[in-house]
Amino acid sequence: MTEKRALFIIFGGSGDLAQRKLYPALYGLYYQGRLAKHFAVIGTARRPWTDDHYHDVIKQSLVGAPGSAHQKAEFADHFYYQSHDVTDAAHYVTLRDLAAKLDQQYALDGNRVFYMAMAPRFFATIAEHVKSEKLLSDKGFNRLIVEKPFGRDFASAKQLNDDISQAFTENQIYRIDHYLGKEMVQDIMPLRFANPLFEHVWSKDFIDNIQITLAEDIGVEERAGYYETAGALRDMVQNHIFQIIAMLTMEKPVKYDAPSIHAAKRAVLADIKPYTPAQVHANFVRGQYVGGDNVGLSYREEDNIASDSTVETYVAGRVDIANDRWQGVPIYLRTGKKLAEKQSRIDIVFKPTENNILPTAGDTSVGSDVLTLIIEPETGMHLTLNGKAIGVSDAVSPFTLDHALDQDELAKAPEAYQRLMLNILEGNKLTFTHWQELAASWHFIDAIRTVWDNDGADGLAFYNSGTMGPREADELLARDNRQWVWQGPAAD
Ligand SMILES: NC(=O)c1ccc[n+]([C@@H]2O[C@H](COP(=O)([O-])OP(=O)(O)OC[C@H]3O[C@@H](n4cnc5c(N)ncnc54)[C@H](OP(=O)(O)O)[C@@H]3O)[C@@H](O)[C@H]2O)c1
Repeated sequence: MTEKRALFIIFGGSGDLAQRKLYPALYGLYYQGRLAKHFAVIGTARRPWTDDHYHDVIKQSLVGAPGSAHQKAEFADHFYYQSHDVTDAAHYVTLRDLAAKLDQQYALDGNRVFYMAMAPRFFATIAEHVKSEKLLSDKGFNRLIVEKPFGRDFASAKQLNDDISQAFTENQIYRIDHYLGKEMVQDIMPLRFANPLFEHVWSKDFIDNIQITLAEDIGVEERAGYYETAGALRDMVQNHIFQIIAMLTMEKPVKYDAPSIHAAKRAVLADIKPYTPAQVHANFVRGQYVGGDNVGLSYREEDNIASDSTVETYVAGRVDIANDRWQGVPIYLRTGKKLAEKQSRIDIVFKPTENNILPTAGDTSVGSDVLTLIIEPETGMHLTLNGKAIGVSDAVSPFTLDHALDQDELAKAPEAYQRLMLNILEGNKLTFTHWQELAASWHFIDAIRTVWDNDGADGLAFYNSGTMGPREADELLARDNRQWVWQGPAAD
């Protein structure tokens, strides 16, 4: 395992993301020896912290991580805090000098990672100043990491992309979608392209429909201010769900590398045509949670939420892909807050056998085979097939092959941000989104958003917290004579 060399400059170094995700991710790489002597981190934010205080913050963020206190302290020694207002050009000069000093001190070969862990309104300013104040290194690599949300519609996303592209090339820009770093999302490609069993049936000829569910059991928590301006469509569908759709439905990339995979994703996303207003009404459902005894407040009662808010906390929809492989195969998606259980999963429902000759139980027909990928909170997959009912009956009955990662395997599966950090250091853009993928998904989302914004409260379906969402989401499938594979937690 070769040690990576780099200087990380984390804008927003005192923030929630940095403390909860980035520092533990870097530590994970350090613990594995992928980062060792030759790395340094500058954390910046406005508050006037000392290096000593910053080290305490770093160590605090590692509580529960493996390794000794001594190891964690040595890791924290690589961190430097620089009080800095990103809107003040003069501050970048101090940052540049510190960066140059650390580059020498740690022999970093001029490799720089600029991580924007701050509110998106600052992204363009940071990129501009990094360039104008000459923080870009002319020796090693320069990589800009952009957190979500990347815009709030196509126009703002394009503006942001144009702005950061003044200072960084597409090749240097790493747009985070942390779902791409999750173990089972990464498993989609091997599953599809290393198993002829699936590769040859991965089309409209054998697949009846695909279902993607990203269900959360929590409400908006501390993110109310942001959520009121975003909603579930922007927060979950535009990015994570569209990336999952692309991974599931793209053609086989010509090679296993980032340019080929991005090209394949781009091509399939171009075949998802934005809906007309009538199609939006027919194919998309939006909901908002209401509270009650033992299930907490209604969305409209939460702090920092308007009492007449029409922001959706739930989305379900049907997406169609207009190409030869997928014509007529609906992709059903749903995501929401305050649902019955936290679970992210993908269900691939195959067509039932035609011409069944086997006995079935009662008057039921032979069920469909279903391949299920559980992304979280468990990690694994299930394949539901048909077999003979156990015992004297000859009837066909479903059974399931389970592959759930056990504790030892899970311990080897890094948290998404750790994998993404490693990919950044390797210059591997496979787990990051290309601008054109985002552009395509924004076009689709904008068409829905425009209709919903015009509709206001009309058509907003309220659902009880702790349930599986509004009944309209079930009707969306019932209309097509289908139902959600996952009906929620099993009754006790
Ligand atoms: N938190 C998450 O789990 C999460 C998940 C996914 C994506 N994200 C994204 O990650 C980014 C950061 O989120 P967050 O939750 O970490 O936000 P946060 O906790 O509010 O942190 C914001 C950081 O920016 C600093 N800051 C604000 N204004 C500044 C200025 N003018 N100059 C320099 N520093 C300034 C703050 O420190 P000072 O106040 O001291 O300046 C703080 O360190 C956002 O884009 C968010 O959408 C977050």
